[in-house]
Amino acid sequence: MLSISFAAKPAAKATTRALLVADDLALPEKDSFLALAIKTAAFSGKKNESITLVHPQGHLVILVGAGKASAITPALLEELGGTAVAAALAAKSATLDITATLPKGAKVDATEAAAHLGFGALLRSYRFDKYRTKDKPEDKPKLKTVTISGVAPDKAKKAFAPLQGVAESIAFTRDLVSEPANILYPATLAAEARKLAKLGIKVEVLGEAEMKKLGMGSLLGVGQGSVRESQLVVMQYYGGKKGTKPVALVGKGVTFDTGGISIKPAAGMEEMKWDMGGSAAVIGTMRALAARGAKVNAVGLVGLVENMPDGNAQRPGDVVTSMSGQTIEVLNTDAEGRLVLADVLWYCQERFKPQCIVDLATLTGAIIISLGSHKAGLFSNHDGLSAALTEAGDATGEKLWRMPMGDEYDAMINCDIADMKNISDGREAGSTTAAQFLQRFIQNNTPWAHLDIAGVAWSKKATPLCPRGAVGWGVRLLNQWIARNYEK
Ligand code: BES
Ligand code: MN
Ligand code: ZN
Repeated sequence: MLSISFAAKPAAKATTRALLVADDLALPEKDSFLALAIKTAAFSGKKNESITLVHPQGHLVILVGAGKASAITPALLEELGGTAVAAALAAKSATLDITATLPKGAKVDATEAAAHLGFGALLRSYRFDKYRTKDKPEDKPKLKTVTISGVAPDKAKKAFAPLQGVAESIAFTRDLVSEPANILYPATLAAEARKLAKLGIKVEVLGEAEMKKLGMGSLLGVGQGSVRESQLVVMQYYGGKKGTKPVALVGKGVTFDTGGISIKPAAGMEEMKWDMGGSAAVIGTMRALAARGAKVNAVGLVGLVENMPDGNAQRPGDVVTSMSGQTIEVLNTDAEGRLVLADVLWYCQERFKPQCIVDLATLTGAIIISLGSHKAGLFSNHDGLSAALTEAGDATGEKLWRMPMGDEYDAMINCDIADMKNISDGREAGSTTAAQFLQRFIQNNTPWAHLDIAGVAWSKKATPLCPRGAVGWGVRLLNQWIARNYEK
C-alpha cells in the first residue's frame, strides 16, 4: 500500500505536486507560470478533471478540478485525492505532494480535508496484480509515497488513522472479490475470514455436517452440486457496551454462480466469481470495525457456497426445508442467493437476537436494469433504518435507492406444493420478489434492510476512487452507518 504522510509545507525538493482548483480557477498560491498555463490549457476546474503540466522549475504539477468550492464535501475530497493519484500514476511519478489548501469558499475543516484526501489517495492506488508474472519493472506503478501538505501534521495524522484502517479493509475486500473461483472457494474464503481473529474478532466456521444438524436444507441444497464444501462463517466483535444487542451484518457468498442446472449462458459467466461480493463486504466491514476499535457490538455472518451443475446437483422442482421450517420449491436453481441467505438470516436471529440486520447480496440482475451501477437497491421493513442507511450512503458516496415492498409482491412467490417458490412467474419486479423472499425469514419485524449490490460490486470502468474491477462496495457505507448511529 501507498504510504501517506502529512506535512506543514510541501517538500522543497522537486516532486510531483497536486493542487486543488475550483471552477473559479483561482490558484491556491501565487505562481505566474501556472496562471498562464491555466489560461492556455483547456482546464475548467470541474470536479475530478485533471491536467498534468511540466513546471519550468523542473517538476510536474497536477491541477485537480474541485468544482464549486462551496459544494466541497469530505466525500468529494476523497475523490480529488484519488484523481490526483490516478494522474501521478499515469505520469509515473515516484512521489506526490498534494497541497491540501482548499479553494476559497470551501466549508470543510482543514484537518478533516487532509485526512479524506489521504483516504482517497489510498483507495485509488489499489492494484490486483498478483497473477501478472510478465510485468516489466517499468510497467509497475512507481508511486510509493504521498504527502498531504499545508496542514498541522499531528492533527491530520490522528484524523487519518481510523481511515487508514478502513482503507486497508477495503483493499482486503477488493482482493477477495478479485480472486478467481479456483483459488477462492468456500473453505479458502472462510480461511481468509479466520485471519480476522488476530484483530480481536471471534471467528467460527461451520461445515456441512453442522449445518445439516441445524436443518439448513435451503443453503445446503445450493452447494449440493459442488465438490467444495459449503461453509457458514460467524464473526463476533464486541467493542460496545456489555449486554447491548449486536448489529448484524449478513452476506451472500456464492464463490461461483454457474446457475446450477438452470445454467447461465457462457458469455459473461466469468463475472460470477464476484457473486461473493456481499460476503466480502461483510468480512471487510468487520475488519474495519476492529481495526479502528469501533465502540459497537457487531456480528457478521456469511453463507459460502459454490453453485454448480452436477450429477448430484439440486434440480428445478426440488423442494427443500429451510432451518425456519418453511419449505421452498426451487423452480430455478439460479435464484440461489436467496436460498443461501434464508438460512443464514434465520440462524443469525435464533442465535444473536440482533437489534437490526443488514444483508448485502449480488442478488438480482434486475437491480442492474433498475438502478445501473450508480446506486444499490435498498429494501426494508423499517423507515428509520432505511433513512439512516441512505444518509450514510450519501455521506460516503456509496449511494442507496429505496425500492418498494408489499403484500402484493409477497403473494407473487406463493406456491402450490410448498410454502413458497424461489422465483415468481414472470420477470416483473424481480428484485422486489427476491427481497420479499428474504423477508419471509425475518422474525417479529426485526428492523431489517437488504442491499442488492449486483450493480455496484464490480466496476467495468475506473472511477476516482477505484481502478477497474472489484469496488469493495459496502465497507465505507456500513462503517459510516455504524459510526453515526451505534457508537454514541
Ligand atoms: N448472482 C446472480 C445475480 C447477478 C446477475 C449478479 C448479474 C451480478 C450480475 C443471481 O444469483 C441470479 O442468478 N439471479 C437471477 C434470478 C432469476 C433466476 C430469478 C437473475 O437475476 O437473473
Ligand atoms: Mn444465480
Ligand atoms: Zn448468484
